[in-house]
Amino acid sequence: KRPAGAPDKELAQKVTQVGVIGAGLMASQFALLFVRRLQVPVVITDLDQSRVDKGLAYIHGEIAELLAKGRIDSDEANRLTALVTGTTDKADFADCDWVIEAVFEELGVKQDVFADVEQYISPEAILATNTSSLSVEQIGAKLKNPERLVGFHFFNPVAVMPLIEVVRTSKTTDAALSTAMVTAAKLRKNAIITRDTPGFVVNRVLAKVLGEAMHGVEQGMSFEDVVEAARPFGLPMDPFVLLDLVGLKVGAHVLDTHHSAFPERFFDSPALHELAEYGAIFEKDSAGKIKGYDKKALAIV
Ligand code: 3HC
Repeated sequence: KRPAGAPDKELAQKVTQVGVIGAGLMASQFALLFVRRLQVPVVITDLDQSRVDKGLAYIHGEIAELLAKGRIDSDEANRLTALVTGTTDKADFADCDWVIEAVFEELGVKQDVFADVEQYISPEAILATNTSSLSVEQIGAKLKNPERLVGFHFFNPVAVMPLIEVVRTSKTTDAALSTAMVTAAKLRKNAIITRDTPGFVVNRVLAKVLGEAMHGVEQGMSFEDVVEAARPFGLPMDPFVLLDLVGLKVGAHVLDTHHSAFPERFFDSPALHELAEYGAIFEKDSAGKIKGYDKKALAIV
């Protein structure tokens, strides 16, 4: 059965200013996409100024790259740069009508972040979470107006992955859902509406692929042989390179969520937790290019 309530474009609210909570890599990537595709002010926030500055520096670097590639001209580069601002004061979110978070993947943290920001924004503003596998309804549990919350799940790298999972909870209004669908279209992404279930759709599949790949290694197979085994499926990246792209901590978290929700279907992966703690599977050069497997990582597994 498909989720009920097809989105109605007429109900979509205007997005005239975007607030982004979290200035990490994922949040910075989609902050850039919002400013580029919606051409509206985007304000980003994080716990402290140095995190905000890091996010802004990433965005400025990407704008410079778009200019160097000839994708935008210098007027556009200047306009985009001026439209993105950083703050540590949530009062600067007062005029945002779309606020999206990508903070640490911890239920309590996300609940508190939304409950906090709700004090500063208008009651009509839509809230969106980029959670990868937590329950969107539970994330909204401390909101006064949980019906304005939707899941809006991007994929890495945000600039090139065409999909957004829009997650509707039992409370999400048609207006919030429609705003999400229309916003996704403006970002030039393909949006699908998913149920509010652990992992939604994509991470259910991904957790299976990455979990089985890690399990193979845990059972004594080599990384290289597991990669070879996955090759016929034609994935654009091998499972371990994908895990590295997603982030070991995020990957371990996604696997945990699935193992807790469906213990009979998903493996727990102690090795992945140890690798996440250690921080690497691959040895890389100074530009971040993979040189080979990290020797300590091989020893851990
Ligand atoms: N960040 C930003 N842009 C990137 C990038 C990155 N990490 N990697 C590649 N790109 C850009 C390149 O700059 C290039 O852009 P251009 O056309 O403007 O020059 C474009 O992507 C294509 O790059 P390449 O020519 O290097 O192309 P590839 O053919 O090697 O493709 C890829 C790169 C698109 C990343 C491809 O390998 C791919 O699709 N990988 C799978 C990624 C995937 O499955 N992501 C989902 C992860 S799950 C997730 O995020 C959910 C979370 O909840 C866990």
